[in-house]
Amino acid sequence: MMSSAERTHLGRALCIITGASRGFGRATALDLSRIVQPGSVLVLVARSEGDLRALQAELFESEAGKAGVTVRVVVADVGEVRGLEDVVKASKEAFSPDMEHMILVNNAASLGDVSRLTKSFTDMAEVDSYLSLNISSALCLTARVLQAFPQRAGLRRTVVNITSLCAIQPFRSWVLYCTGKAGREMMFRVLAEEEPDVRVLNYSPGPLDTAMQREVRAKTADPELKESFASMFTHGQLLTCEESCAKMMKLLLEDSYTSGAHVDVFEL
Ligand SMILES: NC(=O)c1ccc[n+]([C@@H]2O[C@H](COP(=O)([O-])OP(=O)(O)OC[C@H]3O[C@@H](n4cnc5c(N)ncnc54)[C@H](OP(=O)(O)O)[C@@H]3O)[C@@H](O)[C@H]2O)c1
Repeated sequence: MMSSAERTHLGRALCIITGASRGFGRATALDLSRIVQPGSVLVLVARSEGDLRALQAELFESEAGKAGVTVRVVVADVGEVRGLEDVVKASKEAFSPDMEHMILVNNAASLGDVSRLTKSFTDMAEVDSYLSLNISSALCLTARVLQAFPQRAGLRRTVVNITSLCAIQPFRSWVLYCTGKAGREMMFRVLAEEEPDVRVLNYSPGPLDTAMQREVRAKTADPELKESFASMFTHGQLLTCEESCAKMMKLLLEDSYTSGAHVDVFEL
């Protein structure tokens, strides 16, 4: 049997990735396709069908696609119950009994309104809607997936949460984002305590050059914070999704992280 130190692949796997249409989720799909075995299926979830189909076509033409890794596209809003149902249904259909690994990557998230300070958030419906997409949906999707693929001999189960420094450090004018990331990370820490057979990774990918970062630079209310992100961009200090994702793949292959721990890209 292969030891974790020697592992070069994640086995024949079902990989469910939310927010796969762009940014870090897209990079995760491409990277995972290269380290799973033929017969694996990637279930790619987001609302933008065109972007998901383009990624599906790219993967089909890739080495992994030619070797027998296939893609299932699920056009879904993970903030809606119907979206979660569609993801689980497609995942069950894509699963085959000879699969050795089930990997769920909870990547989809939103920044929330960063143009205002905490004292302006008087509208409960607005706050509930943010927390519903960024905490409740990740919890309920993870629970549904773990129920759909229960513990059994020969099946590894890995759940990844894409977290942030904002889960552990407050940033002015980012109350929704920081609160969401903190709550979501704690949820996965509890899961790790409860389910010792499930490998739970809270991966903090660092400041990434994505659409979310453009929103940060355009809308952040706090002037110092806004300036610091503008400066990181100008000085080329943002990470590419590819470089951060490569480090996450290494973590998954080595499989030696403490389940539930917050692992930051800059520690690696
Ligand atoms: N960018 C950074 O600097 C940074 C830093 C630390 C952590 N992170 C975290 O990294 C992850 C990826 O961020 P990113 O920068 O790649 O963000 P991004 O470019 O904004 O991409 C977000 C992804 O989530 C999907 N998504 C958003 N709302 C959704 C919904 N309701 N239903 C389904 N899919 C939804 C989007 O797809 P559709 O719009 O097509 O639905 C998109 O694929 C997030 O969890 C983020 O918090 C980012």
